Amino acid sequence: MTKRLLSPNRADEPHYSDLENVIQEQLEYFGIQKGTEVFDQIIPLLRNIYKAEDHIDHIWSFATDYLLYAKHKDKIALFNANKFICFQLAKLLDNLQNPLRKEFRELRANDSTQYAKGPYSMIDNIPAIFSSQPVIVKTATYIYSCIDWIRDSFQGKEFLQSIYSRLLNPTSISLANYIVELECGYEADRYMALNFNSGMSAIDATLSHLLGYGDILILNKNIYGGSHQLIYDWFGKNSNLDIAIEAFSGVEEPDFKACFRATRKKYADRLKAGKNIYVFIESPCNPHGYVLDVPGICRTSHQNQVTVILDSTVATPFLIKPLKHPAEIERPDFLIHSYTKDLQGHGTTTGGCVIGKNERIFIPKGEKVQIKDFPGKDLKEIGWENTMFWNVYYIKGAFLDSEKAFDVIEGIKTLEHRMLAKCINTVVLHDYFKSNKLINVKSSLCQKDLLAKITYLALPAPLMTLDIPVKDIQRFKSFVDSLSPMFGGMVSLGQTDTIISCPALTTHSELSQEFLKEADITPTTLRIAVGMEDVLDLIFHFKNSAELFIDPEINNFSKGFMSDEEVVNLRKETYLNIHERHIASKKSPFSQ
Ligand SMILES: Cc1ncc(COP(=O)(O)O)c(C=O)c1O
Repeated sequence: MTKRLLSPNRADEPHYSDLENVIQEQLEYFGIQKGTEVFDQIIPLLRNIYKAEDHIDHIWSFATDYLLYAKHKDKIALFNANKFICFQLAKLLDNLQNPLRKEFRELRANDSTQYAKGPYSMIDNIPAIFSSQPVIVKTATYIYSCIDWIRDSFQGKEFLQSIYSRLLNPTSISLANYIVELECGYEADRYMALNFNSGMSAIDATLSHLLGYGDILILNKNIYGGSHQLIYDWFGKNSNLDIAIEAFSGVEEPDFKACFRATRKKYADRLKAGKNIYVFIESPCNPHGYVLDVPGICRTSHQNQVTVILDSTVATPFLIKPLKHPAEIERPDFLIHSYTKDLQGHGTTTGGCVIGKNERIFIPKGEKVQIKDFPGKDLKEIGWENTMFWNVYYIKGAFLDSEKAFDVIEGIKTLEHRMLAKCINTVVLHDYFKSNKLINVKSSLCQKDLLAKITYLALPAPLMTLDIPVKDIQRFKSFVDSLSPMFGGMVSLGQTDTIISCPALTTHSELSQEFLKEADITPTTLRIAVGMEDVLDLIFHFKNSAELFIDPEINNFSKGFMSDEEVVNLRKETYLNIHERHIASKKSPFSQ
């Protein structure tokens, strides 16, 4: 019964179920007996509070149905009416702080206690609800309401009461809700995100959650060097989880299928012994920016009851929303972002998240639910202990703190504009570099059909590599260093500025020579993570650096690019074309 939700006695066997007795029980819980003056003063307010709880429940179920058929203007009216009720309830809560403050003051014993305790934060925190930005909740722990509510919090059954910021923190939850809304839209209620202190900790936690000793992991060959190192050097190590790892080249479903078949054959013994196959893919992938046929890879995997983890960092929800794919069988099971990159977008913090279906991420302690873990398969029971929250998140402690979560939230607000600018610059840079026949350009723009199928407006990942056939390594190094300051010499992609790096020496230096070769990375491969500058400044600088350092070895190299006039036109045409398609793609609210 709902009334016990507000009672400090949430025992399994309630003593009373009628309102008057529950209220009396509450007051007695705090030492206020029936028949006293205090009892008589408080009881009318409590009666109304318990009744209000019932009314709020009613509004919730009413709104759920009503919004399905209400006119838009009526939705506006309902939202604002409810929003105002929030202010009214907060006003009541704020008013209640006046007697509470007095009562608190009366309890003060002496100065030392006052210094040590400081202000009682709850009393002053109520107006913070109306901060126009998410509140940075900078605390390790939270005030208890009562033992039963806290017991419920520890079991994941009471969400009002945070316990400890390593487990849940309101600012971080605000970000988690934000990213789920962006990735999942109308289906946001079915998904949940967990935030981590970095992209790597999100990847580590997801793999730790899923992989068991001796399991098998299939990867695409081009992944971020840190992920490669984590998987091969930690998960693959005999004395750790001793997982078997198979990597596939190529980006299409048949490339994956062939690898999948071969893996099953190669590890038939492990599979017979009950070990499982998992798939970890990165798309668009590092360092070339190629996109994979994620829907196809998910479909094949799910048909074989295999779980797919996708690192979607480079895509951001702007370019690809894999969890919004219409066919559920073509969606990954776990989607990972490094917030450090384009989502935060300004290079000011590190963070990461994983998004998955509610029942794979969190079930309250002690409970189990029936799930279809693979589309089209039979229902299966999953217990709370097998959800990611309890299995790894709750105990591992790589939580994203509130200030970082706030930074990411602020960054995401401008994601669309930053990504649009970056994609435009990527197209211009790609076409410019391509115009020089001596440069081998690798980018998602070489995958026109797949881009058209996968990314928003067939826009490219703002990541590419160049191979310039310079033989003299010393000269090559001088050339790369001379690209500064227009091209930033730094490693973290996804900032406002364009950065250039040599993957073999930096982001992918963890890979052996053999792996580098398979990933198509040579010692002189240059990775460009495209930023938001005026692309002509980048191009002008690049051409001059080439004249300075490459022309002496490769005669007239810098003359091989399209003309200055052509590139000025290219910038204009690309800018207009992409903006026109972008605006045309937006649905009009008037025609809904
Ligand atoms: C595609 C991709 N995934 C994950 C990561 C790791 O993220 P973080 O640096 O936040 O740990 C990176 C970092 O460069 C990356 O490029």
